[in-house]
Amino acid sequence: MRLTTPILENRTELENTFVNTQTMVIVGAGYTGMELARQAIEADFEVIGTTRDPEKAKRLEAMGVTPILWDVNDELAAVEAYLTDQAQVVYSLPTLFKSYEAGGAQARHVAPVRRLVEACQDGGVRRFIYLSSTSVYGDHSGEWVDESTDLWPNSSYGKMRADIEAFLMGCDVDFPITIARLGGIYGPGRTLADFMRKGRYTLIDGGKKVTNRIHVHDIARAILTVVEKGPKEHRIFNFTDGHPQPARDVVEFVCEQTSLEWPPEETLEEYARRTEDPNRLARRTNAIRVLNERLRRELDFELIYPDVFSGYQAILQQEDDSAEETTAAPPA
Ligand SMILES: NC(=O)c1ccc[n+]([C@@H]2O[C@H](COP(=O)([O-])OP(=O)(O)OC[C@H]3O[C@@H](n4cnc5c(N)ncnc54)[C@H](OP(=O)(O)O)[C@@H]3O)[C@@H](O)[C@H]2O)c1
Repeated sequence: MRLTTPILENRTELENTFVNTQTMVIVGAGYTGMELARQAIEADFEVIGTTRDPEKAKRLEAMGVTPILWDVNDELAAVEAYLTDQAQVVYSLPTLFKSYEAGGAQARHVAPVRRLVEACQDGGVRRFIYLSSTSVYGDHSGEWVDESTDLWPNSSYGKMRADIEAFLMGCDVDFPITIARLGGIYGPGRTLADFMRKGRYTLIDGGKKVTNRIHVHDIARAILTVVEKGPKEHRIFNFTDGHPQPARDVVEFVCEQTSLEWPPEETLEEYARRTEDPNRLARRTNAIRVLNERLRRELDFELIYPDVFSGYQAILQQEDDSAEETTAAPPA
């Protein structure tokens, strides 16, 4: 394990030196987990991250993360070793099943979360943060929703998330559980421009539906804010930028800012026939506008990218800058 505690010469140095002895255990160090790891390392956390992929484990190690090769069906022992009283635990795994099987807290999709929470209780961790999804709201015909709005999940993913959330909110454990309901995650390498470049984006139903998004950089910052000053009781927060936009406006913005052409379009019926995936279809039909007041007010959190346009602008600019650097670089 990497040691974060420096050797201190005298008491004055001890008083003046901030030593972060906390660990950040990221269960599922994927796209968001990697950005969180990067920011947590900057904040002097010792970071541990799980992956099933040996190549990704090497990349994590190169970043300064202690990688654990772990599949959710494996024994927990390798992860358990890190679930100590210094640990902030972030669960960032998907729902793992495609179709919903009812069963409430006993359902198969709740089991991996329950197993980990029980291990956290045994280890005595500081906090458990569960990355959920705004899919739990279901369809509210484009109305504004906040954390107190009734949940009407209508997709398997949404229903599974809602069961997991209900289980977590009812957990009688010695540490606070925080649920972050994430909107559509975007960031470097994950913008509509990236999908359009690869020919993997189709505008559905004229792009009328509003979409709720958040930049991965802000997600990681918000998680660190929860760690720093999150509530001592179980609590749910929407993690979105609070400025939902119709998909069409985002595509228009991308086309204006880049040389990319307007993507192919499809009706909802065509999309449903092509994908044959009710979860993906629900994502294209459920209309909600997600409020983020609780995150901003209760945690005094300010987004760096308060709408998708500011986030995309920064990413596209960075891509342009790196392209220029590559062009300007002399041949090796
Ligand atoms: N993408 C979105 O727009 C969106 C929106 C709302 C909520 N969410 C949720 O937010 C969280 C973070 O999203 P993300 O896009 O950053 O996720 P991601 O990049 O897909 O990463 C998911 C992580 O889960 C791990 N994982 C998947 N199946 C596993 C299994 N069977 N056993 C062990 N580990 C497993 C992956 O491990 P490997 O490294 O081995 O692949 C990866 O580290 C996820 O829970 C996601 O479902 C995403």
